[in-house]
Amino acid sequence: MNAAACAMTRARDALTDLRPKPDDITADALEGLSRDPKTLPSKYFYDAEGSRLFEAITHLPEYYLTRTELALLEQRLPSIAQAIGPGAHVVEYGSGSGRKTELLLEHLHAPVAYTPVEISRTAVVQATARLSEHFPAIEMLPVCADFTRPLDLPESARPAQRTVMFFPGSTLGNFTDEAAQALLDGMRQTMGPGGCALVGIDLDKEPALIEAAYNDAAGITAAFTLNLLARLNREIGSDFDLDAFAHRAVYVRERLRIETFLVSQRAQTVQVGGRRFDFAQGEAMQVEYSHKYTDARFAQLAARAGLKVTHGWNDARDWFGLRLLQPL
Ligand code: AVI
Repeated sequence: MNAAACAMTRARDALTDLRPKPDDITADALEGLSRDPKTLPSKYFYDAEGSRLFEAITHLPEYYLTRTELALLEQRLPSIAQAIGPGAHVVEYGSGSGRKTELLLEHLHAPVAYTPVEISRTAVVQATARLSEHFPAIEMLPVCADFTRPLDLPESARPAQRTVMFFPGSTLGNFTDEAAQALLDGMRQTMGPGGCALVGIDLDKEPALIEAAYNDAAGITAAFTLNLLARLNREIGSDFDLDAFAHRAVYVRERLRIETFLVSQRAQTVQVGGRRFDFAQGEAMQVEYSHKYTDARFAQLAARAGLKVTHGWNDARDWFGLRLLQPL
């Protein structure tokens, strides 16, 4: 067996499968389209094409988030590792964030285990197989589960000093305040009383900078948003006309968030899951929120989830932040 296949087998053997209920894309789409105003859930952006487009977004000149967070990690990881302490079991919601995960594992002091938590079995197994080659001394303990609920973590062979939840990328910002609070509350239960969470947050700033990041000149973000309709057409046989909807993303500063819509370019009727939905010309269907944070707003959100901010690191322009949270 070659090294990659061997690593793959090791990772698969260690998989904890909590058998999450699969997403019901038709039911979720029908529920959102029945609302006034209409909505569609942003979690469905990330099929293979959506993930490819998101990866392209992270390299766009206007999309400062990924490169700013990466540079911040590169610069501040010695002090972050100091604050976290040795012997950590790192838990990441999602199937790993590539270079960011590698950087964290490289800089932490003797981490004992790494657990990606993700609804897709293949994604968690592949993520750990890749990482186990780079980090043979770290036990890979992937979990297939719905990370929006608290979970019992698999125990590492060598006891961990501390559980660290890693949630970079300002992914928290894609959740409504209520859902973000529930997610942080679940993290607190999963990490236990001695645990902590390292969370990446995009910070409130000049609205033009934020709006440009979600309305890039090359139109990749528009293609990413429209892929949601293409995915519904592919997977549940709906008949959205992609040319008849336009991407619109606006920074609403009172609510500290980018609100993204698909706007109907004409009066039209769309068939979804055997039902028909009328769109007026100019009707805006809400498809994504990307919340931005001030220190006060983030501390309040954390406190509602029973957590306090113990450390914070920002880039030199205060565009993006990493926060370390611990149970109150
Ligand atoms: C994954 N998430 C943090 C991205 C964001 O910035 O909200 C998704 C995205 N949507 C449009 N561009 C990027």
